Order: sequence, then C-alpha cells, then structure tokens
Amino acid sequence: MAQTIYFYNATDEDEEFFSHELSDQEKWHVHFSEKCLKEICDPADSTPPQDTTILCVNHTSNVTKEFIDTLPQLKMIATRSTGFNHIDLDAAKEKGIIVTNVPTYGENTVAEFAFSILLALSRKIKPCIESVDTGQVDYGQLRGFDLAGKTIGVIGTGRIGAHVIKIAKGFEMDVLGYDPYPNEELRQKYEFEYVDLDTLLGKSDVVTLHAPSTEENTHLINKKTLAKMKNTAVLVNTARGDLVETTDLIDALKDGVIAGAALDVMEGENLLNFDEEANLIHSQAKTHELQLAIEHEILEKMPNVVLTPHNAFNTEGALARIRQTSLENIRAFADGNPKNIVS
Ligand code: NAI
Repeated sequence: MAQTIYFYNATDEDEEFFSHELSDQEKWHVHFSEKCLKEICDPADSTPPQDTTILCVNHTSNVTKEFIDTLPQLKMIATRSTGFNHIDLDAAKEKGIIVTNVPTYGENTVAEFAFSILLALSRKIKPCIESVDTGQVDYGQLRGFDLAGKTIGVIGTGRIGAHVIKIAKGFEMDVLGYDPYPNEELRQKYEFEYVDLDTLLGKSDVVTLHAPSTEENTHLINKKTLAKMKNTAVLVNTARGDLVETTDLIDALKDGVIAGAALDVMEGENLLNFDEEANLIHSQAKTHELQLAIEHEILEKMPNVVLTPHNAFNTEGALARIRQTSLENIRAFADGNPKNIVS
C-alpha cells in the first residue's frame, strides 16, 4: 500500500528533492505545504489528507495531541530537526506513532553559529553596522571585549558542545565543561576541565548552552543560577528556548546581574512574527504567550542582547544533510526497519 506523506514547512528545495526521491506513485503519495503547523494558527487551509500515514515537519511546527487526533491513519512523524520538543511524544506513543529525528547533520553548523552570535555581542557588530549606516561613529559605544584568555563554560558537551570546545581552543579561550555524562576522551583531546554547574557558572566569562530540552532541563538558567554568574559574563543560547527562564533573564540583564546575552532560541519563539503576534489578539487564554511576546519586545530593545530567529541550523550544507537523513528515515520506516527513533 502506498504511503501518503504530508510535508509542512516545505521549501522549494525540499519539494524538488523529496518529489524526485519519492516519485514512485505506487509507493508514495506526496503532498507539500510551505506553511507551518501552529497551535494558534488555523490550519484549515493546509490540512493533510485523511489517509496521511507520514507527517514530515521541522522545528517550527507544533504537533499537538489535538492535531494527531485529526489523522486516524498516521503512523510516523519525521522531524527534519535534531530537537523534537515541538512534538507531543506521549500522544504519539499512545497511538503507536513512531517519531524520528535527524540526530546529527554536522555539529560544526550550530557551533559556528554560537560563535557568530557571541562575536556579534562581544564586538558589538550590530551597532557597528548601524553606526556606518548613520555615519555616526562613537568608539566608546562600540568597544567590545576579547575572547582570547577568557573562560568559556560549555553546558552540554555532546556533539555540538564538543565542537564549540574545539573552536574555543582556536580562540585561545580556557574551557570548562559541565555534563552529567562527562566525555573523558574529549576532555583529554582538548585538555579542558569538567566542573560542577555552580563552579562553571561562577568562573566563566561566557556561558554557552548545548543541552537538550527535557523536563529536567526546563529553566536550567533561572534567577538562582543567573545569580551565580559573574556580573561581567554573557550567556549564549543556541540550544532550546525553554532552558532559560525568560523573565529571570530580562531581570538579570536589566539589573546588571550578567552583562549580556546572545540568543538564537527563546521561549515562545514561534510568536516572533507579525502574523503570530496578531493572532494572539484573537486567541483566548493565552496570557503566557502574550507575556512571552512582550518579553521578546523587551529583549529586542536591550543594547546588551543579540537575538537571532532560530537560525543556527540554516546553512546549505546542513539542510542538504537534513533532507538526506529525513529521506532515509522515511524509507527505513516504510521498509519496516525504522531508524533514528526518538522516545
Ligand atoms: P547531544 O545529545 O549530542 O548532546 C547533548 C549533551 O547535553 C549530552 O552530552 C547530554 O549528556 C548533555 N546534557 C543533558 N542534560 C544536561 C544538563 N542539564 N547539563 C549539562 N549537560 C546536559 O545534542 P547536540 O546535537 O549537541 O544538540 C545540543 C542542543 O542543540 C539540543 O538542544 C538541540 O536541540 C540544539 N540544536 C539547536 C539548533 C539550532 O538551530 N539552534 C540546531 C540543532 C540542535
């Protein structure tokens, strides 16, 4: 029997690649929507057919229990991302739906981006560019700080964290690592020290997050942990928004508890466009989302904050690798040997 696959968030490149690779009409019926699936959006204009067996999404689509319940034939959700916190895994499990991800697509991609936003913050790149645009250069305002000789604390020394450590060594930074599962081989290779979380927070000039979004890790960075950081330190988050309690972070930045933040991911980041914000006005019982939308506005205006729109994964090379692994996941599932299953 043919598999009916529905792709959300499909770009032209996705459509070209998957239509070509899944062109056998006897095996695959493929549908594409460039839209994303969001709780607060009305998905009526991009609804998968009732016989959809495979849903393929990226990190911007929220796959909720309510949505899963609308597709009685659904057997697989393939996310074209590493993280899978946008999918209700319990609801999928309850219905025997397999969820797969792309565990790795080049750890350099996100690590390079972490340094991009760190450098944008440390060397005030945004105000530098703005000052050229306006023709008003104030070197006092544009003064930054060196990375060489500073200590970087890497929270989560998995695939991406390990690459961050490698790059940090190139910048002649001292490295501290914290991970519940320390990697001894990595430690020896890059000659850094594993310490407990409090020590890392207290000693680092840069704290960078590379841990997954899990129940235990929710709001790992909060009022208490922020208070343990140096008041000259900066926080970098390219992992997941829910690792940081946003209100506490704003307070810490405002009150000088820490010096700055570079964030590619934020709680409620799906609200970061006009349509989503506008939809909030008409939605009910969304007080928390409204608060997050306001918090985004506040962060955006802070001079010691660099914000990017969850873009760390977004390179040509990484996207090609993501497509290839997602295709392999879909084929493996259809062949009865699913791989890269998350639970
Ligand atoms: P990984 O699974 O290879 O490594 C994660 C590491 O974090 C593991 O070593 C684990 O033991 C450790 N860890 C778990 N809980 C921890 C805690 N409380 N404190 C310290 N360490 C902890 O994951 P990978 O591939 O390195 O990804 C890291 C993060 O980057 C994930 O959150 C992922 O969602 C995110 N990511 C973000 C992207 C973006 O575009 N911004 C793109 C790809 C991944």
